[in-house]
Order: sequence, then structure tokens, then C-alpha cells
Amino acid sequence: LENGLLRTPPMGWLAWERFRCNIDCDQDPKNCISEQLFMEMADRLAQDGWRDLGYVYLNIDDCWIGGRDASGRLIADPQRFPHGIAFLADYAHSLGLKLGIYEDMGKMTCMGYPGTTLDKVELDAETFAEWKVDMLKLDGCYSTDAERAEGYPKMAAALNATGRPIAFSCSWPAYEGGLPPKVNYTLMAKTCNLWRNYDDIQDSWKSVVSIVDWFVKYQDILQPAAGPGHWNDPDMLIIGNFGLSFEESRAQMALWTILAAPLFMSTDLRTISPQNMDILQNPLMIKINQDPLGIPGLRIFKSESQIEVYKRHLSNEASALVFFSRRTDMPHHFHSSLLDLKYPRSRIYEGQNVFTGDIISGLKSESSFSVVINPSGVVMWYLYPIKSQGLSSQMSRL
Ligand code: DGJ
Repeated sequence: LENGLLRTPPMGWLAWERFRCNIDCDQDPKNCISEQLFMEMADRLAQDGWRDLGYVYLNIDDCWIGGRDASGRLIADPQRFPHGIAFLADYAHSLGLKLGIYEDMGKMTCMGYPGTTLDKVELDAETFAEWKVDMLKLDGCYSTDAERAEGYPKMAAALNATGRPIAFSCSWPAYEGGLPPKVNYTLMAKTCNLWRNYDDIQDSWKSVVSIVDWFVKYQDILQPAAGPGHWNDPDMLIIGNFGLSFEESRAQMALWTILAAPLFMSTDLRTISPQNMDILQNPLMIKINQDPLGIPGLRIFKSESQIEVYKRHLSNEASALVFFSRRTDMPHHFHSSLLDLKYPRSRIYEGQNVFTGDIISGLKSESSFSVVINPSGVVMWYLYPIKSQGLSSQMSRL
């Protein structure tokens, strides 16, 4: 959506995968969906380095709605959000963060709270703008095909009409099966800043792998659909939760970065381990994810030995490579050359191993190299060609 927003994939925190629809604030006051939870996450985002690395969105998901007032305007649950959403937005802004909210383009949200029916689209957009909300995720439960086809563009127009910059996250394609001809990605890019294409992520490696498999299977359709202002969304990062090992956590981070995916963490930032923070706060990883060209990567190689290579083109002729092992036996020595990985001939590259920080230098396109990839793990490289003057004459002399 060309509203000037999200020229790079959004980064932040989203409540859903970790905190779901826990509304039991009596039994579980620290983890229920409430203003306290969002304020505590806001504090963590601001104080623990997240905001300064780009994780600025604090996003509410389902189960915040209390109902509609006599004039039909949405109100937050008065027990769990006693000061209302405008208060939370002010709080986020005071910390240099942005607030995201959630609604559903249908009768009800997926968890049964009042939805945005077609007659409520404008009113709800105005309400969100008055509250100074910065992003809207519009889900698609309890809607018909026709309601979605009318409702999502209608909401895009209504948000625009408020005059407030509000990024627009659509679940539209996910409710149409995610693929053409039912999904028109040109229309998605015109209507939405990002969109969920596929199933909800769950707290397991199996779920991460199923999402990667789907995105790779249809990469020729999905990769060209994304770019500055309009992104595919493979769903939240589950790093820091219960389902992923250390290697799998690195793999999710690396693969989401290659896909130019939004980086929405959904984990408890109050208790996250230093090791998981390192994965999520890796500056070179974030620089790659946020590359200004905004071209998603592709899987370019897959071997019988269950090794895959992903490549993303970056600005200034740089690139990122992810070597991903689906093996379950032991660390695997993978041999290749940049020429094999479709890099141009007769060039010399340097760069860095994204996780270890090891420097890569003097790597010729033709030279063979090897990397050791752990089971369900990745090795990730950032590379750029040496622009030494006279390099080509030097090469022709050799
Ligand atoms: C379905 C969405 O895909 C999830 O991300 C989450 O928003 C739930 N609905 C909330 O009910």
C-alpha cells in the first residue's frame, strides 16, 4: 500500500502466539490480555535495546474488545483496559514506540468479539485514528468472500481518509487459500502494507517448517509480490518460547530474514534468555532484514543430502546466503562455491558470518568452500564483492 509506511518490513512485538486469548486476570494477572501486559512489554521494548534496533511496534491482537457503546463505537474491555486504548497509545508514544490494534472484517473476531461489519468500517477507522493507533491488523474470521472483497479495500480507503498514518495488515489472502487465481497479489500490494498468506504459526518446529515449506513451494508467486510498502507475512517469530531448540531458533530468524518477513516477536520479553535475545538482536541480521531494496530471497539450491541454500539480493551488490540443514543426524559438511550458487565469475568477495561474526575475506567465485551446518540449523553469510580498482585487469593478468 503506497501510504508511505513500512518501506522496510515492520518490526515489533505482537501478543497473539504467546499470550493468545488469556483473559483470566484473576488467576493469571501477569499474563492475561490487559493494559498491564502491554505496558510491561512496552517498558521492555524501550529499556532492553529492542526499540533502538527497530522493534518499535507494540501490537494488540484479539480479545481486547469490550463491546460497542450506544453510538456503535468500539470500546476496550473496561476491566482489563481500564484506561482505554488512547491511553496505551500515548504510553507507547511516550517511549518512542508505536501501537498496533486488531479487528476482524466480519461479524466477530476469531475469538468471538464484535467484528467490523461493512457498515462499521468507517466508524472503526475513525475510532482507531482518534485513539492515535499506528497499525491495524484486520483478521478475516466469520466473513464471506464477498465481505472480504469489499471490506479490505474499504478499510484501506477509510484509514487513508482519517489522515493519520496507520499501517494496514490484512489477513485477506490467508482466508482465500493464499494463491492465485483467488488471491490477486497486485491488488494486495495496492490495498495492504502486509498480509498473512498462510496458516497461523504454533509453538513448534513442525509449524515453522510447514510455513517455510509453503513459502518455498510457491516462491515464484510470492517473492515478486513483496517489496517496499507491501510485504508477505509468514507470521510471528516464536523464538523465546517453548517449541524451538537453539539451532531451530537461529533457523527461524535467518529464514524470516531471507524472506524479507516482518519481525514480530511473540514472546515474554520479561523473561527471555540472553541467548534468545542475541538471536533477535543481531545487528547484521536486522540490517539484512531491513535492506532498503526490499527484495525477498529465494531458495536456490536443494540437495539429496537435505541441505538447502537460500539467497537474498541486497543493496550495493551485497547478498545474504543461508545454508539450512533439514538433517537429523549430525553436523554436516557442505561443499560448494559461489559460482555454483549463481554468483558472477571472477570476482572476490568478503563479508561476515552473521551468527559467529567471523570475517570472510578473499573468497573467489570459483574457489570451493565448506560450511558445517548443525541439524535443523543454519549457517548464514553476508557477502559483498570487493570493489578494488583494477580488479578486472588484475584478474585478466592471472
Ligand atoms: C487468526 C489469526 O491468523 C491469528 O494471527 C490471530 O490473530 C487469531 N486469529 C486471533 O483470534
